[in-house]
Formats: sequence, C-alpha cells, structure tokens
Amino acid sequence: MSSTQSTDELLFVGKKEDLISAQRTVVSLQGRDVLIIYHEGEFYAIDSYCYHSGSSLETGDIEELNNKLCIICPKHKYKISLCDGEGLYRARDRSQSPPPLRWFSKGVKQRVHPIIEIQGELYLRPATSGYIESDYYQDVEHVNTNVTQ
Ligand code: FES
Repeated sequence: MSSTQSTDELLFVGKKEDLISAQRTVVSLQGRDVLIIYHEGEFYAIDSYCYHSGSSLETGDIEELNNKLCIICPKHKYKISLCDGEGLYRARDRSQSPPPLRWFSKGVKQRVHPIIEIQGELYLRPATSGYIESDYYQDVEHVNTNVTQ
C-alpha cells in the first residue's frame, strides 16, 4: 500500500520505525496536514496548524499540564492536549477567596485523529465529524494569511 491509497478509511502514515526515528513528522493526508508525534512510547496525531492563528505546532514543547500531555504552540504558547485536542489555560479561580491559580478548559479546539498500528505500519483514521476550530487552518489560504501575524 502506498501513501496515497486508503482502505476502509485507514490512511497509510508510514513505517513505525521511521516515525519513531523522526519523533515528529508532518504528513499530508487527503489534503489535511497532520502532525504525527512519537513521545515516550506513544503516538499522537493532531492537526498541524494551531487553532488560534494557524502557526505550525511541529516544534512545540511537550509538557504534562493538569495531568494531560500537552503541546505548547511556539507562536503564542497556547496549550493543547495531545490526547483530545482540548485547549487549556491557567487563571485565577474567582469562585474562591483568595483566588488560587488553576487550570481551565476551553473545550476541544484542535482536531486529533486515531492512529492504528498494523504489522509495523501506522495508519490514521481521519476524524472529520462536526466542526473543530483547527479545521479553519486546513485551508492553505488561511494558513498563509494568518501564520505571519
Ligand atoms: Fe498558536 Fe497563537 S498560540 S498561533
């Protein structure tokens, strides 16, 4: 199977050993740029362009925040869960006095995709249901006009 073929909505991403060596790989699948990350023994597949303003997430730091593994966008430091695309931010909780700093959720903002291993090869099942804010930046025109701002 080549990288341009799909079977039952599974899209070939690459050989597992190559993706482990690379650690981070951007693949274009059916017109969608997806960042494949290998981190501490796990693979993650997340839309490549940040939901905030379309910057590439490829070089973002990875940290555990609020018990969730997150990628931090290099552009404006937005925090995004690698598991489910949830946007996280830290702020004072005004419901308490004195207000402590704690993590809040913005909800799911970045599309993530299931990734499956079959005999040493990885396949992605594109997640396309509903609208998620990162969908906006899958249009090349939007990426090019927003990433430089
Ligand atoms: Fe990612 Fe602004 S935080 S583009």
